[in-house]
Amino acid sequence: MADTFVTKIVEGPDTPLDISLRPPLFSEFAGQKKLREQLELMVEAARQRGDVLDHILLNGPPGLGKTTLAYIIAAAMGVNIKTTSGPMIEKAGDLAGLLTSLERGDILFIDEIHRLQPTIEEYLYPAMEDFKLDIIIDQGPRARSIQLNLPKFTLVGATTRAGMISAPMRSRFGMNSRLDYYSADELLTIVKRSASLMSVAIDEGGATEIASRSRGTPRIANTLLKWARDYAQVKAGNTVTRQAANEALLMKEIDADGCDGMDRRILETLIHRFAGGPVGLNSLSVAVGEDAGAIEDVNEPYLIMQGYIKRTAQGRVAMPLAYAKLGVKAPREQADLFGR
Ligand SMILES: Nc1ncnc2c1ncn2[C@@H]1O[C@H](COP(=O)(O)OP(=O)(O)O)[C@@H](O)[C@H]1O
Ligand SMILES: [Mg+2]
Repeated sequence: MADTFVTKIVEGPDTPLDISLRPPLFSEFAGQKKLREQLELMVEAARQRGDVLDHILLNGPPGLGKTTLAYIIAAAMGVNIKTTSGPMIEKAGDLAGLLTSLERGDILFIDEIHRLQPTIEEYLYPAMEDFKLDIIIDQGPRARSIQLNLPKFTLVGATTRAGMISAPMRSRFGMNSRLDYYSADELLTIVKRSASLMSVAIDEGGATEIASRSRGTPRIANTLLKWARDYAQVKAGNTVTRQAANEALLMKEIDADGCDGMDRRILETLIHRFAGGPVGLNSLSVAVGEDAGAIEDVNEPYLIMQGYIKRTAQGRVAMPLAYAKLGVKAPREQADLFGR
């Protein structure tokens, strides 16, 4: 069911669209102003001292620009970047291979770093801290540990689950920052930039419509823009006007608030089948037929940010806005729950 909705994103390999539209420089990276300024300052300071950049952890929902920033940082530092992801590092040897291939100052980008195996994490600690790697060679009675000196490098980690990063891991990053959802204005800038790179004819109304219905997420804005372009080409005289964008988004079941079919299904299920909650993530996941991890990474953060649902110790609870959105009256008990 994964591809039913255009906005469906789970972290995975970057698509060709992602790669072609990725801004290469800080100056082309819209939004996340504070984070961008901090990173630019760190880069500037390290460059002035001829030093290697501190390790950086980037966290936030999929599609907000974590991978993009890793590449921008590497370009700004003028260093190489090697990319891997938590689940791809299966054995200590995989990590050793990566680390020993780095040159001084290079960036090792580990996507989905919360999915690293604990044993691999243990190897990573001395590498991050002292640029040393202890590896065990041989087996049985002849097994012995040797220590390799590594060049000073920068680890950039990305995660959609800051809460799943172990405390010792987190403490080894010099900078730990969160990416926020983008404002409609910031997304408007991104849509216009992408449209010009893709040579899409779009007017202000069309761009505004797409920007405001992209769930605060640049990757979704780009995907919707591509869809609206196809729609306009076939059905609307090749220009993405407000009306063309609106029709295109309707066809993909994206509503005026930017919610997609799965977002609405979650709200409907929560309200109609679980009486507004509280309900645990796993029950909700089974009821809507969506992977619990995808709900937690993709749908939930946006629904919470928009004020549709709330996370409590007992589970997920529908908020008054969710009832209003579905045109359902909130029951009395719910009203009590909100009051607390
Ligand atoms: N701040 C931004 N300005 C312009 N485009 C962006 C920005 N952030 C992300 N994008 C676009 O969205 C796509 C997804 O970003 P990406 O860095 O892959 O997200 P993440 O790694 O957080 O999932 C990128 O390819 C890029 O085209
Ligand atoms: Mg990424």
